[in-house]
Amino acid sequence: MKFPKGFLFGSATAGHQIEGKNINSDWCDWEQFPGRIVDGSTSEVANDSWNKWREDIEMLESTHQNAYRFSIEWSRIEPNRGEFDQEAVEHYRQILIELKRKNIKTMVTLFHFALPKWVATTGGFLNAKTGKLFANYCEFIGRELGDVVDLWATINEPQTYALSGFLYGVHCPGKKNFLTALKIGRNLNKAHILAYKKLRSVVSNPVGVVENIAIFEPANDNFFDKTFVRIINYLATISFIAPISNHTDFLGINYYFKVHVGSNKPRFAFIGERINDIGWGIVQDGLYTAIRQNQIWRKPIYITENGVADAGDVHRPKFLKDAFHYLEKAIRKGADVRGYFHWTLMDNFEWANGYTAKFGLFTRDRKPRKSAKVYRDLIDKYRW
Ligand code: FCB
Repeated sequence: MKFPKGFLFGSATAGHQIEGKNINSDWCDWEQFPGRIVDGSTSEVANDSWNKWREDIEMLESTHQNAYRFSIEWSRIEPNRGEFDQEAVEHYRQILIELKRKNIKTMVTLFHFALPKWVATTGGFLNAKTGKLFANYCEFIGRELGDVVDLWATINEPQTYALSGFLYGVHCPGKKNFLTALKIGRNLNKAHILAYKKLRSVVSNPVGVVENIAIFEPANDNFFDKTFVRIINYLATISFIAPISNHTDFLGINYYFKVHVGSNKPRFAFIGERINDIGWGIVQDGLYTAIRQNQIWRKPIYITENGVADAGDVHRPKFLKDAFHYLEKAIRKGADVRGYFHWTLMDNFEWANGYTAKFGLFTRDRKPRKSAKVYRDLIDKYRW
């Protein structure tokens, strides 16, 4: 089967993870403290994509990808409140123009975990006023680059931002408080709606949001576990999507894992016999479930991330083939899936895991893994 005409076959990255020297961001300070990044590394160099972005585009081309999801860093565009840096805008414009020249469609994320320091010092998204500042920055970028961006994603994974940064405390700003995490989720949704409205008023291409969709299943077939699953699914997924579902043109789904939820300990456990380098189960049928479960929102779906930490490239080839198998199955069932972005183009600065978690089709020094060829062959097979 060929996927529908115009289907996007791409990969995803995030500015802070690949650009290097994102020095006006809160993450840059956060990384400096010993113990926060497992290998003691920082994003100072990362993949030096700020300078080597042409090489990144070559990797996309060499693997026949026709789409690229990357982020614009707010802290580079607006390093100080109200001070917009035209050189940074021009930098991103050059990248976008080059991608256009090569017929590679673009999805630009406007917030992927890193905030300008000046925003962070006034409370970041905990401060209800930040949503407005974010929307202003989105509007500015929309005006500047609206002619060269194909798809816009306002916020990446509000779930992970809330959980890792405000409940588990392993991401910047390292808070550990359930109520605070809930508040962040709410504020991010409000910020998305403001940004959506502002962007919509200045750009003509679709504006969406990217959600982390974990699939939860009861650990045991009993009433308690099933109820627990419903509660967790509500908290982690429904409560994030329902409030914004009338303010998004598409739904971006990041799918990584399935989780057993139980009333006995351990309350949460990854499902799957095969595990990746950072301990997550590898169960790709969840990609199918993630798509099917989210058809209720009646929006076009893009798989905006899906990948595996696998330094040895042992699991990734099958992982990719399985992804296409389940995409095909969902499309056959009538799901409106319009693209797949693999996480990630090349190994990069994986937040608290530093450089230890290797999710790339290419290595950090831009050498292809076997999977890069596997992906290229799959694209050739499924592309219209
Ligand atoms: C997602 C993030 C992305 C990367 C992958 C592995 O939650 O959006 O930046 O960390 O996980």
